[in-house]
Amino acid sequence: MAHILSLLHLFLLLILLGVHASVSHGSPLQPEYNTSVCSKSYSCGDVNISYPFYLSDAIGETYDNTSFSCGYTDLKLTCLRDGVNNTTATIQLAGHEYTVQDIVYDNDTVVLADSDVLRGGGKCPRVSHNVSFDEEWLHYTSSVENLTFLFGCNLAPTDPRVNAAGNKNKISCKDFGSSPGGGFSFVFTPEELGGAGASAEYELAKLCDPPVVVPVDVNLLMEMGSNQTVLLTEYGAVIDNGFELAWHLVENDGCNPCEKSQGQCAYRQNKTFLGCLCSDGKMAMDSPYCSGSSKSFETCILQFNSCKSNKLVPRIVI
Ligand SMILES: *[C@@H]1O[C@H](CO)[C@@H](O)[C@H](O)[C@H]1NC(C)=O
Ligand SMILES: *[C@@H]1O[C@H](CO)[C@@H](O)[C@H](O)[C@H]1NC(C)=O
Ligand SMILES: *[C@@H]1O[C@H](CO)[C@@H](O)[C@H](O)[C@H]1NC(C)=O
Ligand SMILES: *[C@@H]1O[C@H](CO)[C@@H](O)[C@H](O)[C@H]1NC(C)=O
Ligand SMILES: *[C@@H]1O[C@H](CO)[C@@H](O)[C@H](O)[C@H]1NC(C)=O
Ligand SMILES: *[C@@H]1O[C@H](CO)[C@@H](O)[C@H](O)[C@H]1NC(C)=O
Ligand SMILES: *[C@@H]1O[C@H](CO)[C@@H](O)[C@H](O)[C@H]1NC(C)=O
Ligand SMILES: *[C@@H]1O[C@H](CO)[C@@H](O)[C@H](O)[C@H]1NC(C)=O
Ligand SMILES: *[C@@H]1O[C@H](CO)[C@@H](O)[C@H](O)[C@H]1NC(C)=O
Ligand SMILES: *[C@@H]1O[C@H](CO)[C@@H](O)[C@H](O)[C@H]1NC(C)=O
Repeated sequence: MAHILSLLHLFLLLILLGVHASVSHGSPLQPEYNTSVCSKSYSCGDVNISYPFYLSDAIGETYDNTSFSCGYTDLKLTCLRDGVNNTTATIQLAGHEYTVQDIVYDNDTVVLADSDVLRGGGKCPRVSHNVSFDEEWLHYTSSVENLTFLFGCNLAPTDPRVNAAGNKNKISCKDFGSSPGGGFSFVFTPEELGGAGASAEYELAKLCDPPVVVPVDVNLLMEMGSNQTVLLTEYGAVIDNGFELAWHLVENDGCNPCEKSQGQCAYRQNKTFLGCLCSDGKMAMDSPYCSGSSKSFETCILQFNSCKSNKLVPRIVI
């Protein structure tokens, strides 16, 4: 019996020495990364940027020169200098720039507004593009509804849709000016486009530029929509106010165990999971978790690639 036990001890000792050696010689499975590349948090204008967002220059490189982002690939922010003293955080979605109005880390939401519209100013900006984005990490929340714009509609000024009762959707801002190519412009709320009565709107759309669909805050829209005149004369305010998106991790790519172990997920530029950035400067790649002080001895053996040698040394004295 004693014989078997001491064999067991020897066996365990060998495993532990093996782990120790592989860690102290810098196992290639556990490359180091430069922790100062992935800064904890950065303040830009009124927003705090921290994981899973990252600054556009927070791109690290592993030992084999694979570049990675210190956060979810799509959540790359740029901090633009804007005037003498101000900075503004921006994000690119499908090639268009949005200004980050707010990031709420308590409920994983971000509020964005079209930068072109904000720069253009005015009560009735000419919105030029749809909002669209890759839904890998970002999603609409229930606080968002779409406004649909029809610009440059080629109607005769005597058309009933331009006059009298037909004009409850016609944009009529003082500062709207003539849209490029002329024509009339209209805005519709989702209710107006749903249901049986909407076929007239689809007929109208055929006479206009392609529709532009813009998400806005549903509460502000309801407030404003209660008086249609306000919407038709100053809808810019509801667009400037921005729209809310939520972010979620990708469930099945290694990021979940990484974040559960207090690590931060590193992604390649092509959006695939690369490894887990641990606070000790190690990057766990094969097993995507960081060793934590709460990890048990057994877990350490099972996950020995991510165990630190100094935690194991006292355990050798069995
Ligand atoms: C780590 O990154 C910082 C900031 O980018 C840089 O100044 C420093 O030289 C880097 N250190 C190493 C060891 O590469
Ligand atoms: C940003 O973070 C700093 C320090 O953590 C905090 O004092 C400040 O209130 C935060 N600002 C916002 C807008 O959340
Ligand atoms: C990584 O890049 C450095 C400098 O650019 C180069 O010297 C080194 O050979 C590269 N390593 C690999 C594995 O490509
Ligand atoms: C700076 O930012 C503040 C608050 O965001 C804004 O009120 C002010 O107009 C900005 N100043 C400049 C010069 O852009
Ligand atoms: C920038 O900030 C400095 C110091 O706070 C102030 O004196 C200056 O007037 C500001 N400039 C602008 C354009 O806001
Ligand atoms: C997230 O929190 C912000 C600030 O408290 C709040 O305005 C917003 O409605 C919340 N969003 C969700 C989806 O819970
Ligand atoms: C708004 O439109 C986009 C596509 O244009 C769609 O994905 C989204 O679900 C719409 N939102 C609502 C609340 O209908
Ligand atoms: C915006 O999206 C709608 C569908 O939601 C599409 O019909 C329209 O052509 C798009 N507009 C532009 C300017 O791409
Ligand atoms: C709607 O708003 C306009 C402009 O603010 C105002 O003149 C008008 O009296 C309002 N109408 C109602 C019914 O509140
Ligand atoms: C992403 O890049 C890695 C390394 O460059 C490559 O092995 C992988 O196949 C790529 N994945 C996709 C989906 O493009």
